[in-house]
Amino acid sequence: MRRHIKGNVSWVGYLDWELESFHGDDYSIFNGSSQNAYLIEEEKTVLIDTVWTPHRFDFLENLRQEIDLHKIDFIVANHGECDHSGSLTALLDEIPGTPIYCTASAVKSLEGQYGKRGWNFQVVKTGDSVDIGNGKKLIFVEMKMLHWPDSMATYMTGDNILFSNDAFGQHYAVAELFNDKADQCLLWKEAIKYYTNILNPFSMLVAKKVEELAKLNLPFDIIAPSHGAIWRDNPLQIVEKYAEWAKAYQEDQITIAYDTMWEGTAKLAHKLAEEIMTQSPNTVVKVFNIAKSDKNEIMTEVFKSRAIAVGSSTVSNSIISSVAGWLEFLKQLKFKNKKAAAFGCYGWSGESVKILQEKLKEAGFAVCEENVRSLWNPEEEDFAKIPALAASLLKRD
Ligand code: FEO
Repeated sequence: MRRHIKGNVSWVGYLDWELESFHGDDYSIFNGSSQNAYLIEEEKTVLIDTVWTPHRFDFLENLRQEIDLHKIDFIVANHGECDHSGSLTALLDEIPGTPIYCTASAVKSLEGQYGKRGWNFQVVKTGDSVDIGNGKKLIFVEMKMLHWPDSMATYMTGDNILFSNDAFGQHYAVAELFNDKADQCLLWKEAIKYYTNILNPFSMLVAKKVEELAKLNLPFDIIAPSHGAIWRDNPLQIVEKYAEWAKAYQEDQITIAYDTMWEGTAKLAHKLAEEIMTQSPNTVVKVFNIAKSDKNEIMTEVFKSRAIAVGSSTVSNSIISSVAGWLEFLKQLKFKNKKAAAFGCYGWSGESVKILQEKLKEAGFAVCEENVRSLWNPEEEDFAKIPALAASLLKRD
């Protein structure tokens, strides 16, 4: 079913209510998602992106009910990842030879994933454009590393729509499609989670791209990403948020994340949370057991934090495996301008705090010297170290 967006532009994507994860199981999804594809019917008929491979036949059937597929003059593939390109093979089996406008890197990713099928690629770069009739054209803007080397956005003049692909998206299924119709809490929760877990490693490039988009001085009536709500009510609000998020974003928040073998490290985590609340009542404090909480949700809280504390018991001369995996993901996300501290209990060798400190440094955090390393269960002398640890985390250098 097509859904009207503006003028002669319709949404022809897939609302994925049942999707529970993305990138395998690396990104959790709790509120559904969508793969947004768009149909432009000016003098030229243009399809912007497709949907994920498992939904390709539903997608084609829906599209066929709206138009004769042979009417499609060309396809724009803003990004080669299979959640947007996964219907191309089925579609092009029906309309072989249809031009595909995409970046040079997208040719590599599409041929890499689907093989060399002799598709009619039309390689474009930033500033290239194509007329679609009725005085309108599509202008292409490379979005390198937002979030793949092949990513691109497409701007439609006349209706002033930016088809931004993954940038400005959210894994969030919105039946009504538009941002003003969405639950605002969920919309922003999912937008910041998406930014943290998909785009934060590329924040320097996001900042530059947002400046570049502003310098184009183009009107933006609608920003239509490839996932989640379409921004029609004050669409620049998400661009402004990205500008803010891209610059080592932080709120007055401290996040404590830990795993524990026999509750000693958990006691330290809770005591530290109480102490931070006492010393700085306005600071938001959040505590997570890494083994029991969703890693993407915790990372979103880390993104909002100005400091974190990470705890682990010592096990087999090292740290608990749940914390080790979590720290690897923390490093990948390349957070900037945040402090960190370590704590943990041990029974024999007691390496966990030192290992945590090393791994937090490797992940780019400014690590506080203060720590709590507690033999067996935390005693008064261990709890006595917590005020200094909290003060160090709270101190603005
Ligand atoms: Fe939504 Fe990078 O794919």
